[in-house]
Amino acid sequence: MLSTFASLALLASSPLVSATCQKYVDAAVTAAANLQATYFVGGSYGSQQPWINAVGSFHLTELDTLAGISTYAGVIDTTFNPWFGQLDNGDSFDDVQWVSIAYLRAGNLAQAQKYYDIASTAVSTDYCGGGLFWNGNHDYKNAITNELYITTSGYMYDVTKNGQYLTNLQNTWNWLKASKMMGSNGLYNDGLSNDGKCNNNGGTQWTYNQGALLPGLAYLYKYTGDESAIQSAWAIMDAVIMGMTVNGGLRESCESTTANFCNADQQTFKGILVHYMSWFLSVSGRDNGSKYSGFIMAQADKILQFSTGPPGFYSNLWYDANGGAATWTASSQASALGALVAAGQQNC
Ligand SMILES: *[C@@H]1O[C@H](CO)[C@@H](O)[C@H](O)[C@H]1NC(C)=O
Repeated sequence: MLSTFASLALLASSPLVSATCQKYVDAAVTAAANLQATYFVGGSYGSQQPWINAVGSFHLTELDTLAGISTYAGVIDTTFNPWFGQLDNGDSFDDVQWVSIAYLRAGNLAQAQKYYDIASTAVSTDYCGGGLFWNGNHDYKNAITNELYITTSGYMYDVTKNGQYLTNLQNTWNWLKASKMMGSNGLYNDGLSNDGKCNNNGGTQWTYNQGALLPGLAYLYKYTGDESAIQSAWAIMDAVIMGMTVNGGLRESCESTTANFCNADQQTFKGILVHYMSWFLSVSGRDNGSKYSGFIMAQADKILQFSTGPPGFYSNLWYDANGGAATWTASSQASALGALVAAGQQNC
């Protein structure tokens, strides 16, 4: 597998950020070049699910801005081409929101709105009192779909200033807060029980479930001054630092140094959490000292130390040295890219 990688030379450095963070920007530029050269074939990523393509597009577009380049502006134009049928049938209300965010970040409001509107058809009060269904079966309300709606609504409001989006954000956040989605350790579980009781279902606490709503909370604070949104976001990030790390490095529960049970979806999660923490900080301007910024940079440091393989390629395993089971895939590469971009966005 390793022999198939193409190693690309470092591209030009950006003058836009200060010296220490430049190493993260440089690493992100190389990681992105390798991601695209190795895995982006014929304008998309093969059988990789479109939601991961959307997350990758977001990371790449943010890198363009960070590094002062426009290398990846065209990714959004083709990356969903094999997937429009699947996306448009309204059967995956989390996936369409990643797509909406990617389009909005790339400046295509019409497409962002199209996929946001598909997600909005999942809003329903007749099951657990509110929130969005996960998919077309209309039998599960889960964390990711609802958290994403908080962020996509906030982002749509930020761009359009249409008050309906802010209302949607507030309705979904108020519902989520009152629900039993969060476990006693302050981390969100996967979803609510579908036995009519709407209890916390004890499902896996994935890293991205702690990150997906953070930008939405930042927009809520920015546009309403709601200080409790900041306190909620900080509490979630504190719970992550407390409960999802080993020696300061993020660990997905399906990972260990000697075994990897994370699939492509799950290998994508950590990069989302870290990048969305950075998005939260940039919109809200509210770190606690440099606690969260420092955490973001620490994740990039772990990646540069432990996730290495062929130069510029990164595995799924961030928190410790590979004991034999780490994997280098398109999604592990994109996930590392997201964290490296996030670290490059901090003030060093
Ligand atoms: C800020 O972080 C410090 C150090 O972890 C903590 O003691 C303090 O409670 C935090 N402040 C808030 C308001 O969360």
